[in-house]
Amino acid sequence: MPFGPNRDKEPTTRQGDQHERDSQIKAVPSVSVVIPTYREAENLPSLIARLKELRTVGGMDLELLIMDDDSRDGTREFIEGLGEEWVRLFIRTSERGLGPAVCDGLKSAHGDVIVVMDADLSHPPECIPALVEALGAGHDFALGSRYVEGGSTAKDWGFFRRLNSRVATLLAKPFTDAKDPMSGFFALRRSACEQAAHCLNPIGYKIGLELIVKCECERVKEIPFHFCDRKAGESKLTLAEQARYVRHIRRLFIYKYGAWANLAQFLAVGALGVIVNLATLTLLMDFGLGIKFSIAAAIAVSMAFNFVLNRRFTFSHARNGSVTKQFFGYIGACSLGALLNYFVACGLSRQFPSLCPQLAAAGGIIAGVGANFLFNQFAVFKTEKATEEERAVV
Ligand code: GDD
Ligand code: MN
Repeated sequence: MPFGPNRDKEPTTRQGDQHERDSQIKAVPSVSVVIPTYREAENLPSLIARLKELRTVGGMDLELLIMDDDSRDGTREFIEGLGEEWVRLFIRTSERGLGPAVCDGLKSAHGDVIVVMDADLSHPPECIPALVEALGAGHDFALGSRYVEGGSTAKDWGFFRRLNSRVATLLAKPFTDAKDPMSGFFALRRSACEQAAHCLNPIGYKIGLELIVKCECERVKEIPFHFCDRKAGESKLTLAEQARYVRHIRRLFIYKYGAWANLAQFLAVGALGVIVNLATLTLLMDFGLGIKFSIAAAIAVSMAFNFVLNRRFTFSHARNGSVTKQFFGYIGACSLGALLNYFVACGLSRQFPSLCPQLAAAGGIIAGVGANFLFNQFAVFKTEKATEEERAVV
């Protein structure tokens, strides 16, 4: 696998041209509003009435796709009773969840522009024209934002909910400068979605972030809005959802940074391995074992620890391979790395006698760790059999 982004990339210029064409085609684009729902029957009457205003008063060519995970709370009866042809209800029974529901909606939408929002009236439908206009003005992605000037959240957001939202936003920093990438209220062109449809893999709530990254939306415009707390029903954002977010961020890293993401994980595991090594050494010496034995045991324990973590995280794309083969391959790669470390350090101190030994050793370490990583990446945990889809789900 090459270093760098792991994707079949359309050249940015082509994508840019495409976007330019899109925004020039129609001055008044048709809009598909995709709303994932689970037990939102109580909120639908008011939501649909407000969306209808955009059609009747605002003259918008708007269709609504309700992606319901078989709520059985009267949602179906209500929509069928409405008899509005612009409201399309999808009852989903497989692959449930907000992310997959939105993805299904993206695929079924007919509009030039797709808007995604919540059903619980947290997101004001009246902001939709501003989101659509931002795309018309040449932006790739319009994001309803709570954290830009003019945006706000309900006052009674507790400390932990605010902290949670801030930490999650920080984790998304490597992917976008947007102030509110966690927002579930956004708009983008349907053509941009189609281009990334094959690699969308939302495992949690942050479908907007997934789309910004995978549809390669560089020009993100944030539109301020006031996030109201839901009036009826319950939030489905659980702790498990937040753990899923961390996994999602890791996947996006691997997607966006390819082998560089593997190197970052390899180095993080290595740093943990140093701690394990020193802790083991200290423990064994405390038990009165000899220094030579303790050093050897600490090396063995930290190597085993690093192997397990690297197999599980750094090279998780290859975790279907034989453990025994990978283990011996790993030991081989580490030994080669150690030999290189030794020779480079000795070579440096011979070549530059005035260099302090620590610097020579540091040079050795860099060469050793680098070789160790490359052997593991390209020989021990081979990636050539992993398809893009397999890599997308690591
Ligand atoms: N189809 C389907 N399946 N829809 C779901 C599911 C599901 O499993 N779980 C939730 N939804 C729908 C809800 O019915 C609602 O319309 C929307 O997805 C958001 O769910 P909430 O339960 O209201 O989430 P939240 O208010 O805690 O989170 C919102 O705010 C976050 C930022 O604070 C969402 O907008 C998130 O996307 C956003 O990140
Ligand atoms: Mn909500």
